[in-house]
Amino acid sequence: MLLKVENLSVYYDRALILDHINLQVGHGELVGLVGPNGAGKTTLLRAVSGMINVEKKDLKFSGSMVRTLGKISFQGESIDSMLSYEIARKGLIHCPERHRPFAGMSVLDNLMAGAFLCRDKREIKKRLDNVYSLFPRLKEREKQTSGTLSGGEQQMLAIGRSLMLKPILLCIDEPSLGLAPQVKRSVFENIREIQKQGISILLVEQDVRQSFALSDRNYILSSGRIAAEGSSAKLLEDETIRTSYLGL
Ligand SMILES: Nc1ncnc2c1ncn2[C@@H]1O[C@H](COP(=O)(O)OP(=O)(O)O)[C@@H](O)[C@H]1O
Ligand SMILES: [Mg+2]
Repeated sequence: MLLKVENLSVYYDRALILDHINLQVGHGELVGLVGPNGAGKTTLLRAVSGMINVEKKDLKFSGSMVRTLGKISFQGESIDSMLSYEIARKGLIHCPERHRPFAGMSVLDNLMAGAFLCRDKREIKKRLDNVYSLFPRLKEREKQTSGTLSGGEQQMLAIGRSLMLKPILLCIDEPSLGLAPQVKRSVFENIREIQKQGISILLVEQDVRQSFALSDRNYILSSGRIAAEGSSAKLLEDETIRTSYLGL
């Protein structure tokens, strides 16, 4: 297994936000994580990428005291007490929710900022070429100030910047949020392409249909617990799951 989350619980102050979560992502897999607003999806990604973690017992996060329990391993190595940049260096990259590039910086400078963990110029050039081949639009707008990009282009840039870190596992939080249907579709196409390059993906989405069309396997998170897991076909077959959790 590439990513293994065992009995992960997270408290914000005294509120239990994640309750004994068990989740895995295999090599090359695209795993969907769906669930309503407030279910704990973002919290789960934050725990995995080391933004809130097990050793930092007295960590404050947006004003709340965070307590994290459980085990997280990546490529067989325990990462649950590592700092987020150490985890990123191992190849586990988190593309956060509502992630906006630095508005005053050009597209190119934003992408180069994403390569901050790498010193090898040829390698950086290779990564940049790859981002531009996935997102030709970003190449066209290379010199443009990022704040002038459309919502869809900014999402492309956010994903592009994550790719500059050369992920082995890319955790993407709600990439389609707020985008028009057509733009959404192209972002999902991009994600499929990224998986084809051999990058494993943990995809958080509220758009269940699109996410299920893409994923190899899914977890449904509801009020901090895994309510169900399995292939899209299996989950969609179950009437109770469809109506109670997926709103379909
Ligand atoms: N910094 C915080 N302090 C206190 N509660 C928080 C904080 N961040 C999130 N929460 C609460 O944790 C729960 C899960 O939030 P979140 O992980 O953002 O869910 P999702 O991404 O599924 O919408 C929600 O009830 C939310 O109000
Ligand atoms: Mg969220």
